[in-house]
Amino acid sequence: MILDAPPGARTQRHLLDVEGLPRAEILRIIDLAVEMRAARAARSHRSLLEAETVGLAFYEGSTRTRVSFELAAKALGATVVDLGVAGSSVSKGESLVDTVRTLERTGVTALVLRHGAAGAPYLAARTTGMAIVNAGDGMHAHPTQALIDALTLREALGSLEGRVVAIVGDAAHSRVVRSNLHALLELGVRVRLGGPPAWVRGFDGRPGIEVAGSLNEALAGADAVMTLRVQLERAAVGGVPSLREYTRHWGLDEKRMRLAGTDAPILHPGPTNEGVEIAAELANGPRSLIGRQVENGVPIRMAVLALVAGAA
Ligand code: CP
Repeated sequence: MILDAPPGARTQRHLLDVEGLPRAEILRIIDLAVEMRAARAARSHRSLLEAETVGLAFYEGSTRTRVSFELAAKALGATVVDLGVAGSSVSKGESLVDTVRTLERTGVTALVLRHGAAGAPYLAARTTGMAIVNAGDGMHAHPTQALIDALTLREALGSLEGRVVAIVGDAAHSRVVRSNLHALLELGVRVRLGGPPAWVRGFDGRPGIEVAGSLNEALAGADAVMTLRVQLERAAVGGVPSLREYTRHWGLDEKRMRLAGTDAPILHPGPTNEGVEIAAELANGPRSLIGRQVENGVPIRMAVLALVAGAA
C-alpha cells in the first residue's frame, strides 16, 4: 500500500497490496498513470528518478510485469538492476533477507519483488529501508495488475460506479482476483464471481460480491467480463474433474460472451491458456482488452515507482 508501512518498516512508502487503499488513492494512481503515459510519449520525465536505483527480483516467472517495471523505471531515468534470481546466490541457499539486505547495501533504493510466498514483500519492507513494490506474492496479491485493470476498465466503460463486472475462473489460486476485488469494490463496482465450486468457495457472503452458480448467471447483462488464468502451476486442476470439463462449463468464447451486455469487453491478466479459459478468437477479437491491459502496464508502474520514490 502507498499508505502506512507494516509495523517495523523503516520507510513509509511501499506498494504491498491494494487492500486498504482508499478510493481516492486508487484514483490518484490511475490518474497519475494517464499523465505518465503522456510523459513517456513526450520523453518529458526522463530525469524524474535519476537519483534512484530500482532493483527487480523475480523469484517466479514473469513477462508482462518484469518487462513493464523495467521500462517504467528507465522511462523515468532510474538505474535498473535485475537480480536474475536463477543465476544469483539464491541458488546457493541465500535467504530472502540476506538477498534484500545485500541489494540495499549495493545501492538499490526501490525493490520490485515477485515471490511465490505470500507475505515476502512485507518481510522485505520490515528488514530493509528500500521502498518495496509487490509484483505478486503467492496467491495473496498483485496490486499493480489490479490498478492496470481498473484503468483499463475505466477507459472502456467510463465511471465504474454501479457497473457489473463478471470475473470467471480460478479465483481460489489467483492473487489477481484478490487484488481486483479490493480495487473494484472500492471503486463502486458490483462483482459477479463465477467458477467451479472449489474455485469460488469462501468468496460468497462478502459485501458487493455475488457468487454465480453458472456461466449464464455470471455473464447475464454484465458490463465487462474478466476471465482468470487456470493456475496450472498452483495445482488448480485439483478443483475440477478435468480441464476439458472446465472449458465445457466455464470456458469463454464469442458465442457465450453474447450473454453479457452488448459489446461488453473481455479482460484477462495474462498469460492466457488459449482454448482452456478463453478461446483464441475471443482473446484476439474486437471485444478483447487484453492488449490494452499490457499497454497500461508501463504507465501504471511509472506512477507507482514515482509515488514510492516520493517524486510525485
Ligand atoms: N499478469 C502478469 O502478472 O503477467 P506476468 O506473469 O507475465 O508478469
